[in-house]
Amino acid sequence: MGKIRTGRLIALLIMCAGISAAGVSLHGLLDRAHALGGPDDLDVPYVPTPESVVEKMLDMADVTGSDLVYDLGCGDGRIVITAASQRGARGVGIDLDPERIRESKENARKARVTDRVTFVRQDLYTTDLRDATVVTLYLLPSVNLELRPKLFKELKPGTRVVSHDFDMGEWAADQTVEVDGSIVYFWVMPANVSGTWEWTMPGGAGKERFVLRLEQEFQNARGTLTAGSSKTPVRDVRISGDQVSFTVDQAAGGKAAGARYEGRVNGNTIEGVIHNPDGSPEGKGWTARRDPSTMVPVDSSDELPL
Ligand SMILES: C[S@@+](CC[C@H](N)C(=O)[O-])C[C@H]1O[C@@H](n2cnc3c(N)ncnc32)[C@H](O)[C@@H]1O
Repeated sequence: MGKIRTGRLIALLIMCAGISAAGVSLHGLLDRAHALGGPDDLDVPYVPTPESVVEKMLDMADVTGSDLVYDLGCGDGRIVITAASQRGARGVGIDLDPERIRESKENARKARVTDRVTFVRQDLYTTDLRDATVVTLYLLPSVNLELRPKLFKELKPGTRVVSHDFDMGEWAADQTVEVDGSIVYFWVMPANVSGTWEWTMPGGAGKERFVLRLEQEFQNARGTLTAGSSKTPVRDVRISGDQVSFTVDQAAGGKAAGARYEGRVNGNTIEGVIHNPDGSPEGKGWTARRDPSTMVPVDSSDELPL
């Protein structure tokens, strides 16, 4: 798995110019934890997220009573406890440090949310994340990057991810907000739309066959649509959770104009509607099916255990 151990973490912290005040305290606290005989297999030292930033993280993820929030490296449990006590959500806190798990359970008891939150002493890299609807992180840039393929492998499209202070490298945030000197990054897990999709629709001479080929980079994609013998690039491809849309230019009144295809991705099927260039529904639905062998992982890692 190539986890980052203490020595590498300290070097990383020193290298991370962007960490500023949070980085200095992360570094100092890691040293102090080790001096006190704390666990030395942590990838990130314990530094709590200020309450105002916790609020902002939950706001950005729009956490409600129907959510299951996972905090990876939960510290004293404050993020999932606040999600449960103020938003009615359920929560799971994961931490490798037994002292943090004890503290979290005690804090949950004091906040009277033990029926809605669970704290587990576990390595965040081996935690099964498939049930999460929201994932919260306050880790390190390198840990976020190492975790990223696991997020893409296990999280359902539409799952919201928020990270305190650290981004996800090439996976650009959908939204970024500054609060009290911290930055909060927000992403919505995009469906994997890569590969070759096919469908038929009534055309001039009976049924016309359509072939859509898409290449995906995180929440962006590009590709072509082949209808009969004509192949056109698709443009403005948008992927948001399980929703995908794109425009296909077509000649109309001597000008290039675009029909907008919108659909919901469900595994290897997209079902949706087509809008005319003026935005009005064309009245045609489309149901596309993907050859599963053409799908490419959005962010792959051969080392992942799940
Ligand atoms: C910076 S603190 C964040 C605490 C909390 N999420 C918050 O925002 O207030 C990081 C936490 O991650 C935990 N941690 C470090 N490496 C871990 C690992 N591999 N698996 C699980 N927890 C880990 C540490 O014990 C620490 O409590």
